[in-house]
Amino acid sequence: MTSELLEKAREFEAEKLRQIQETERPAFHLTGGCGWINDPNGLSYYKGEYHLFHQYHPYSNLWGPMHWGHAKSKDLLSWERLPAAMAPDQTYDNFGCFSGSALELADGRHLLLYTGVQTIPDAPEGKDGRQTQCLAFGDGVNYEKYEGNPVIQPETLPEGCSTVDFRDPKMWQEEDGTFYTVVAGMKQDGNGLIALYKSADALNWEFCGILAESSKQLGGMWECPDFFELDGKKVLMVSPMAMIPKEKEYHVGHTTLAMIGGYDKERCRFEQETMQQIDDGIDFYAPQSLLTPDGRRVMIGWMQSWPNSKFVPDGAKYFGQMTMPRELHIRDGRLIQTPVRELENYRGERVLHENVTVKDQDLMLDGVEGRILDMTITVREFSELECLDILVAANEEYHTSVSFMPAKGLLHIDRSFSGYLYDIVHSRDIPAEPKNGQLELRFVMDRYSLEIFVNGGETTGTAVLFTPLEAQKIIFRAQGTAQMDVEKYELKF
Ligand code: FRU
Repeated sequence: MTSELLEKAREFEAEKLRQIQETERPAFHLTGGCGWINDPNGLSYYKGEYHLFHQYHPYSNLWGPMHWGHAKSKDLLSWERLPAAMAPDQTYDNFGCFSGSALELADGRHLLLYTGVQTIPDAPEGKDGRQTQCLAFGDGVNYEKYEGNPVIQPETLPEGCSTVDFRDPKMWQEEDGTFYTVVAGMKQDGNGLIALYKSADALNWEFCGILAESSKQLGGMWECPDFFELDGKKVLMVSPMAMIPKEKEYHVGHTTLAMIGGYDKERCRFEQETMQQIDDGIDFYAPQSLLTPDGRRVMIGWMQSWPNSKFVPDGAKYFGQMTMPRELHIRDGRLIQTPVRELENYRGERVLHENVTVKDQDLMLDGVEGRILDMTITVREFSELECLDILVAANEEYHTSVSFMPAKGLLHIDRSFSGYLYDIVHSRDIPAEPKNGQLELRFVMDRYSLEIFVNGGETTGTAVLFTPLEAQKIIFRAQGTAQMDVEKYELKF
């Protein structure tokens, strides 16, 4: 039965959808039907299609009572919008249906596990309410909340843990049929923890232990955990709040971490070996992954950062986008990200320029321009190069620059002139060390974003660009001399 609140949201979004042209949206980055979206939720493969839900406040471009928006896709790139899946319509989730995950059950139902937040009169200042984990069962369009909700209470955690910071369950099922979920929690001293639970039927959950915990250096609450096997290792991904930056990495708070290591099943402990920031750009948070039927681990993040998200462009008809799906691997102890291979099916004409010399004058190359594209720049010779600037989404008024400084091993992204009308964070440094005498930069651009993959995805940098679409140029300029190849495909959706 659809509740009145959900019915209202569905009618509202259906009306708003008619007022937004598809060309006002990205071509292949998912946006909400209308209003605000944040974290990707319930990324799953169900009855032969990918489903992606999201944190959703349809009624404004700002965060508000959380619903779950919903879309599905055959290839993770062309999305079909579905009606909102959940509204905060129960006592235990009346403040909001917070983040969670999904999977297909053996009996053919689609199972959602999410955080219900319940308003409590005595919630500590700045906190939302009591957080518990809840279930909903559905058929891929309509979902019924479980009458036995909530199924995991914060009191199952060791004594002294917070009951108002206990959220974002990421669930999976192992081969023997056992369900597991990680959930983010908080200790009395303000440090985050990741709790592990298991269940034989997905209804009755048992606390197994604390998989990992933060220290002040690594931030407070670790939001949106994900825990999976990759290339023979275990990966724990978290999105820490209040992180202390370290040199060039881990910008202040609301950053994302991938920890790679092993797992002691007996002690229920993750054993960290290496750690890195997942994306070094401006807009990336709360990623969630899934295992595709052909065995690939694919991750999608929210293409925003919390501090910047209050600055919504005037007249925006919706706010928030997902990143493009990225395939994950481990190489030399690092998480490697590459655009999902399905992107190649959308490639149009190939434009190739080889052995191009760039000096201090502006250089534009035939056929190298546009806003929806997949372009690889291979810089081969930089012994006399101080800095190579690549300007994208450029015209006389606007540009975003990506500057490669070989001596520093850095790529500096700066969107100060991209048309964003607020003085917020507009630049970041992305590690970019040449390998075997060359540096490879893959730029994936959609109408309102740029995602950069360095050296086959060793590092990445993501930024939303609210640049008017008439800014289509790509300009190269150098201090010193650079030699490069440029291969560019227009993407056709
Ligand atoms: C992360 C987060 C989650 C929470 C959701 C609420 O961005 O704060 O921890 O479930 O957003 O919208």
